Amino acid sequence: MIKTTVVPIVCSILILPALVTADSLAPEHTGMTRAVAVMHPTAGHEVRGIVTFTKTADGVRVQASIKGLTPGKHGFHIHQYGDCSAADGTSAGGHFNPHGADHGGPSADSRHAGDLGNLDANESGDANYDRVDHHLSLVGHDSIIGRAVIIHAHADDLTSQPTGGAGPRVACGVIGSAKE
Ligand code: CU
Ligand code: ZN
Repeated sequence: MIKTTVVPIVCSILILPALVTADSLAPEHTGMTRAVAVMHPTAGHEVRGIVTFTKTADGVRVQASIKGLTPGKHGFHIHQYGDCSAADGTSAGGHFNPHGADHGGPSADSRHAGDLGNLDANESGDANYDRVDHHLSLVGHDSIIGRAVIIHAHADDLTSQPTGGAGPRVACGVIGSAKE
């Protein structure tokens, strides 16, 4: 009877170093690779959906699936603060702009980091967006984690300063960490 109790103790001593090694390789130690913003409508609107940000070898892939829009283009940006508390979404502040650049289109060399261009909604008010961005980061000084995604009532003209003339905010969502 005494011998059988000795075996589990020996096993646990041998297994312990293996568990420590595995933990040090867990995703939280290698930097965030995936983030999500759940979009909620501002007062008077019904715009809802999901925006995901996934780190790839080439940049950050931005994918959005949004419903409840009016047909046509709608400015689509990351704003400075992760605060969607105001009824009109203005608590999210201006465009996320960690390098003091001018507003621009998503493919411009110089632009606000948060300038993602436009969503383009179909006749049913649905919009999908899928592109790899070269200005966004999920880690470090320029990280978008904890900031907000904003969708606007009107199109971003990609040139007007400082907001592209996209008008009121119809949906807001805070960017947080996502399941890998
Ligand atoms: Cu905006
Ligand atoms: Zn901008």
